[in-house]
Amino acid sequence: MSVIRSVVMGCGSYLPERRVSNDDLAKVVETTDEWIVERTGIHERHIAAEGELTSHLALKAARAAIADAGIDAQEIDMIILATTTADNTFPATAVTVQAELGLHHGAAFDVQAVCSGFVYALSIADTFIRCGQAKTILVIGAETFSRLLDWTDRTTCVLFGDGAGAVVLRAAEGEGTTADRGILTSHLHSDGRYKEKLYVDGGPSSTGTVGHVRMEGREVFRHAVINISDTINEALAATGLKAADIDWFVPHQANKRILDGTAKRIGLPPEKVVVTVGQHGNTSAASVPLALDTAVRDGRIKRGDLVLLEAMGGGFTWGSVLLRW
Ligand code: ACO
Repeated sequence: MSVIRSVVMGCGSYLPERRVSNDDLAKVVETTDEWIVERTGIHERHIAAEGELTSHLALKAARAAIADAGIDAQEIDMIILATTTADNTFPATAVTVQAELGLHHGAAFDVQAVCSGFVYALSIADTFIRCGQAKTILVIGAETFSRLLDWTDRTTCVLFGDGAGAVVLRAAEGEGTTADRGILTSHLHSDGRYKEKLYVDGGPSSTGTVGHVRMEGREVFRHAVINISDTINEALAATGLKAADIDWFVPHQANKRILDGTAKRIGLPPEKVVVTVGQHGNTSAASVPLALDTAVRDGRIKRGDLVLLEAMGGGFTWGSVLLRW
């Protein structure tokens, strides 16, 4: 049976130039390189320069993805940008990227699902492509998360960083089997009962300020491993595939211990897990495409490979996307 699939044509990413090590942070808050590495696996993060905005990072990742896809930007008929750190409360940062790319057609909008944003955006893009409303979609995850941090709170400020990643998806015909290239299945969830476990204490409608990240770390950790494992099992059940069929597991890069715990729970060996959290910390919606691009650039992910993406974040929101590269 012939079906429409959303195939990844290319990917790209960008990290701001300024690197901040754990030792640098130890000069700002009471912490140590040893504590951060042992609890999180994070060695350094990149922080956007003054005046460097989410749209700037997004544009750099987008241009790299478009070049990698080998297409003309004018072929893009939709831009979906996942972010929690928009340049302005409105308009959507996606329309700034649209304008900078010289596009005046199609639609551009932001998606807000915090760390799950890129997985949400991919799933939304796949739905638009499969129902025939768009052919070529630029999906971006971009954050200047450092702007939401309370730099006096050691329990949160050591965990996050800034960055961006992007993919170009295009409609292609498939056979309707798991041998097809493209997105094979996606699953999204949220449960607002947990919104106070991880949130920002400000916003345009409440305080009129941007606010800072607040988190109950242990609770988030506990829910993350369970929710992520469940949505991975959902993806496997929906396709009839097994954990052993997965070539590469590209998880949200929040904390190495969460990645290790999840991989163990679903029975994936460590060598199949793409881990980049050490180099950029938790970049929220940018973390999955940053890790994906790293593994494509270094030759690990190759055409035909089965790739599993997942994320979990504030809300709680969580989800998975299973695709053949
Ligand atoms: N440096 C040194 N000590 C610290 C630091 C720090 N940066 N932060 C906290 N501590 C101290 C605490 O004050 C506490 O001290 P106490 O025992 O004297 O009270 C001690 O370390 C232990 O604190 P816990 O919070 O219990 O440490 P835990 O082992 O749970 O690790 C962490 C904390 C790393 C935040 C962990 O809970 C975690 O990773 N949770 C998941 C959070 C996450 O990834 N959030 C990202 C967004 S959601 C997502 O992306 C999935």
